[in-house]
Amino acid sequence: MWRAWQRLPILYQVLLGNALVILIGAVGGTAITKQLLQASSIELTIFFATVGIVLSIGINYFLLRTALRSINLLEHTVERIDRGDTTVRAEVNHIADPQLRHFAQSLNTMLDRLAAHTRTLETNRAQLRQLSGQVLRAQEDERKRIARELHDDTSGSLARILLNLQMCEDTAPAGWTDLRAKLRATRTLSEQTLENVRKMIFDLRPALLDDLGLAAAIRWYAKTNLEPSGIQTQFELPSAVRGSPIIETALFRIAQEAINNIVRHARARHVTIHLSQTTTHWTLSVRDDGQGFDPTTLSAALTEQRWGLFGVRERVTLLGGTCQVDSSAGKGTQLQIEIPIEKT
Ligand SMILES: Nc1ncnc2c1ncn2[C@@H]1O[C@H](COP(=O)(O)OP(=O)(O)O)[C@@H](O)[C@H]1O
Ligand SMILES: [Mg+2]
Repeated sequence: MWRAWQRLPILYQVLLGNALVILIGAVGGTAITKQLLQASSIELTIFFATVGIVLSIGINYFLLRTALRSINLLEHTVERIDRGDTTVRAEVNHIADPQLRHFAQSLNTMLDRLAAHTRTLETNRAQLRQLSGQVLRAQEDERKRIARELHDDTSGSLARILLNLQMCEDTAPAGWTDLRAKLRATRTLSEQTLENVRKMIFDLRPALLDDLGLAAAIRWYAKTNLEPSGIQTQFELPSAVRGSPIIETALFRIAQEAINNIVRHARARHVTIHLSQTTTHWTLSVRDDGQGFDPTTLSAALTEQRWGLFGVRERVTLLGGTCQVDSSAGKGTQLQIEIPIEKT
């Protein structure tokens, strides 16, 4: 009997319950009125009226509470979903109302689909991450290879050409002024080319990174790129820190990208580069006082094939770290990254 009652839709439960209250009120009320006609006392009238009201409220409360229990259960589930817990499921077996039960089943189906989609997304993301890692490693290897070739072949040959030109210049008769001038101009050009090649080699694979370490390499790169543009640089770099080659390369590349961005986009006057290492984390921050930009436009930058800051984020994420770009028009830009030491 109780089970059958519970299985009734809420609408009918409330309707029938209230019909019951009216029925009790009509039958009981008539009987009480009869009694009151005989012994009409004001206390008795108040007593019976109070009993009637309390009874009616009590019955209605009980009816509505049992009828709305299923809704409370659902509300509880939806609240947990709202707080971000998508593992929760509505307890369909505890919901008697058929319409609500149907609703709860649909909610559960939706949550199951969401969980399946999330799993697929996570798998895709992991694959993408793996791919990015391979691309970055391949890029570093290729840079190393080109740097080695440039160093061993190109800059070696250029150095020999310079030597030969110097010898020609020294042995050319003093009267051959035209030839001597041409030789000197060619030597100057070769010197500049050699200097450019050395800079290219450093950009590709900073030998300083291997020899002197991260802090010195960052200092050198910042000085040679920022100072010619008249930008004052303040360094907050530790004297002797060493990390794994993977982390050092990543941190150097990130600093390199931040410095290049300042030269290309910032119109800054001052730059502060901070690098520190705790027992758990590396922190790198590059801050400028330039014109700044709106970081929400970065996703649009991707569609225009501007990958710089995206590459930074990829490197950091691959190493389990975090990356933050704070910037707004006229307020300068700060790139701050943290990389855990354990993940190396
Ligand atoms: N330090 C900075 N100051 C001002 N704008 C910047 C700075 N760094 C980045 N930006 C802006 O963010 C955009 C995206 O940067 P990035 O991803 O490195 O691509 P790219 O340097 O190839 O344009 C830049 O085009 C520039 O508009
Ligand atoms: Mg860039």
